[in-house]
Amino acid sequence: MKQDFLKYQAQTSPHPLAMEVSHANGSYIYDTNNKAYLDFVAGVSATPLGHNHPKVINAIKEQLDKYMHVMVYGEYAQNAPVKLAKLLAKNLPFPLEKTYLTNSGTEAIEGALKLAKRATGRSEIISANNAYHGNTMGSMSVMGYEERKQAFRPLLPDVRFINFNNEDDLKLITTKTAGVILETIQGGAGFIQPENGYLEKVRKRCDAVGALLILDEIQPGIGRTGKLFGFENYNCIPDILVIGKGLGGGMPIGAFTASSQHMDLLQNNPKLGHITTFGGHPVIAASALATLKEITESNLMAEALEKEQLFRKLLVHPLITDIRGKGLMLALITPSADITNSVILQCHNEGLILFWLLFEPKAVRITPPLTISNDEIIKGCSIIIDVLDKIKK
Ligand SMILES: Cc1ncc(COP(=O)(O)O)c(C=O)c1O
Repeated sequence: MKQDFLKYQAQTSPHPLAMEVSHANGSYIYDTNNKAYLDFVAGVSATPLGHNHPKVINAIKEQLDKYMHVMVYGEYAQNAPVKLAKLLAKNLPFPLEKTYLTNSGTEAIEGALKLAKRATGRSEIISANNAYHGNTMGSMSVMGYEERKQAFRPLLPDVRFINFNNEDDLKLITTKTAGVILETIQGGAGFIQPENGYLEKVRKRCDAVGALLILDEIQPGIGRTGKLFGFENYNCIPDILVIGKGLGGGMPIGAFTASSQHMDLLQNNPKLGHITTFGGHPVIAASALATLKEITESNLMAEALEKEQLFRKLLVHPLITDIRGKGLMLALITPSADITNSVILQCHNEGLILFWLLFEPKAVRITPPLTISNDEIIKGCSIIIDVLDKIKK
């Protein structure tokens, strides 16, 4: 399988881990030799309820037995996507009430950028250095990492960059700005949280100049930071909220939510202002609805903060220079990229899945399923500490 994977399936890097996956359950993924790997990554923050959660599986199966794709997005009223959008609205503050469902995070970012332009009649977008918002052309245009986008220029014009957490840069947001797009917690950059009321200040500046604030919660959203959405921790409500990853409960999804007043603009002048064939797919929406219900009705969000404290207590070692992030969105920082690589690869051999972050080579990603147990956290952290001990010798 590995040879065919490398030969026939397009690759994203020269050295994929290429683990041959057999099955997955709860906090574990099993390879074809039936070796169990404890999952501290959750498909890169995309499986908040772990693998094959029975409520998610049942919801998918029930929907499969009724129907799959019947019509393009937005024409027919279908139970699962309607209930999903309604449940999101119920859990969001005013004026975030209307949701557009897409197939991926990057596609939701594209929709959000378009909506900001459509709503303001302006073209300038402001993003942050070291931001990651996805890999299609619009999303890549607002990616704050030149090295990875140079080869694909020209990209969107009229995009400017500010430094995250830098208040002086806020003056670059002006009456020319259609939208300011920020990750609530910068992911690829190394799980950088907003500091000193930064998001509140961005909100104020956007209000002053009439620009829309787009918060990308594709990674921090869906309970990972102890609240359903990260912005709830920072006293700042965006005009457009972008969601993805964990919302699908392991299925591909994206979504952007705004006020009805804004969202309704996509219906007219021009009509069909944003369209998709498969967005809001009933099987995916059924999976997302079951996931969102479980997360909002259980204690998982509050537990994420307790589990963070357990990680912070256990992950103490001379080669750990910092632990960044919030809740179950944690980045362990080592003194060098080489040490980080060794930790990730050696832990893999020991049956613990860890991963890299996009732009911070010293960071080890720890984003387990929210359902991970304390015993599993203790077990995984002891593997990390043992591996670090060996590296230190
Ligand atoms: C913050 C953020 N925005 C956007 C995306 C893009 O989402 P997708 O890979 O579903 O297109 C990601 C994916 O890693 C992300 O972390």
